[in-house]
Amino acid sequence: MDEGSRSLLELIKRRRSCRFFDSSKRVTKRDLMAILEAGRWAPSARNLQPLEFIIVKDNQGRDRLSEFSRQKHPSESPVSVVVVGDLKRAKDVGDISPHDTTTHLRGMKTFMFMDAAASIQNMLLMAESLGYNTLWISSFDEEALEDFLGLPDRFMPVAIICIGKTRKEIQVPPKRTLGKRVHQGSWSPRHQDESHIGFSKKINVKF
Ligand SMILES: Cc1cc2nc3c(=O)[nH]c(=O)nc-3n(C[C@H](O)[C@H](O)[C@H](O)COP(=O)(O)O)c2cc1C
Repeated sequence: MDEGSRSLLELIKRRRSCRFFDSSKRVTKRDLMAILEAGRWAPSARNLQPLEFIIVKDNQGRDRLSEFSRQKHPSESPVSVVVVGDLKRAKDVGDISPHDTTTHLRGMKTFMFMDAAASIQNMLLMAESLGYNTLWISSFDEEALEDFLGLPDRFMPVAIICIGKTRKEIQVPPKRTLGKRVHQGSWSPRHQDESHIGFSKKINVKF
């Protein structure tokens, strides 16, 4: 591995979800633009680029994001970016699919979500490289957020990205090892480590 690859991997490993933002630490406009620029260059299904980015900086707006997500982080971080997906643009991916309506829907929404994930990760990494901490929030009252942002029908909010600086050291969460996750050629049955599974029990999903 050369120097560049090694430092990229280090950056990827260093990024952590921050849940203790220092609200007195600002994000400069220049840095915010560099973060959004990284998001803009993400891969996109059929290159449709169905994402828009809404910057929320004012106190009242960030407080509303906290209210809709029931999480204090948007209020505590100096800036949040709401990533919004354009379903009309994304629909095109479904339309070219020769498969049934399930696939059509898969194309339409899933590809938009995948686009968003790629773009968000680019932004998180750029923020990290500029010395900021971030939090990706995708749990919120979608309708309330849509109303607040004044989104036309064809748009849906996908994530709130909080950007700022942490006021506490962030612990590294456990990450499953490759030995437990990599399969060669086909599925290899092996003991499934379930230590990180918790939510599925609460929502009663059967696997
Ligand atoms: C799709 C998605 C949604 C997430 N939503 C939330 C959220 O609503 N609140 C939160 O505190 N963290 C959220 N996270 C952050 C994860 O909890 C976090 O990535 C995970 O615990 C691993 O920690 P790390 O990011 O430090 O590696 C979300 C992450 C992803 C990818």
